Amino acid sequence: MEKIVILTGAGISAESGLGTFRDKGGIWTKYPLEDVATPEGFARDPVLVHEFYNARRVQAAAAAPNAAHQALARLQRDWPGEVVIVTQNVDALHEAGGAREVIHMHGTLAGALCGACGHRWQAPEVMNTKTPCPACTRPAARPDVVWFGEMPYFMDAIYDHLAGCSVFAAIGTSGQVYPAAAFVHEAIAAGARTVEMNLEPSAVVSSFDETRFGPASRIVPDWVDRLLEGRA
Ligand code: APR
Repeated sequence: MEKIVILTGAGISAESGLGTFRDKGGIWTKYPLEDVATPEGFARDPVLVHEFYNARRVQAAAAAPNAAHQALARLQRDWPGEVVIVTQNVDALHEAGGAREVIHMHGTLAGALCGACGHRWQAPEVMNTKTPCPACTRPAARPDVVWFGEMPYFMDAIYDHLAGCSVFAAIGTSGQVYPAAAFVHEAIAAGARTVEMNLEPSAVVSSFDETRFGPASRIVPDWVDRLLEGRA
């Protein structure tokens, strides 16, 4: 049975109203990523970083999955082989759209991590510099998201999946952040067919066998239909 590995990025959640990072008006054009998405930025100004993620947590909780999230959940249900969704997104829209298993390589807004003892727990809606760790009681709570300079989660499992996949798709990601941007090369080494689906060509577009450009809510359901009908 063919295994499909799908990598998603901020573009798949754009039509659900969550901003992307590097597009015009994107999150990193408003907040310098060095300030809100690095361990050094958190050490410098934890209040600012908590406020940034508290706002994103509220916004993500209010967002609804779109047709692209739902189509991938349908593919997971109806494809006779395994469909592995690896997301760089910290929202929970794949799960809200019905996906069963999602690998959150950059963590989730729903999670809290103790910077002192490493304990993980469900994030309260609002976290601040006084939020205590339920395990060690120290006020060292931080969002359980992977910042620049930190190692993404579940890398061994992801590379195992890539080594065994027959189809690899990258959806809504600019291909500018590694290691995710290099997954296509792992998939090629495994002999997989590769497809990029994005609003515009990514930084690694030339590595893909096939490209489909347009809004994810249109091109992803179309691709899923074609796969399930044996046309892709
Ligand atoms: N449909 C499909 N693609 C879209 C849509 C849409 N409606 N809207 C935007 N896009 C595309 C953009 O063209 C862009 O190439 O989504 C991509 C989003 O790119 P980025 O903003 O760079 O987001 P992403 O690739 O997920 O970023 C990777 O960088 O800052 C870190 O940790 C953060 O996980 C994030 C990582």
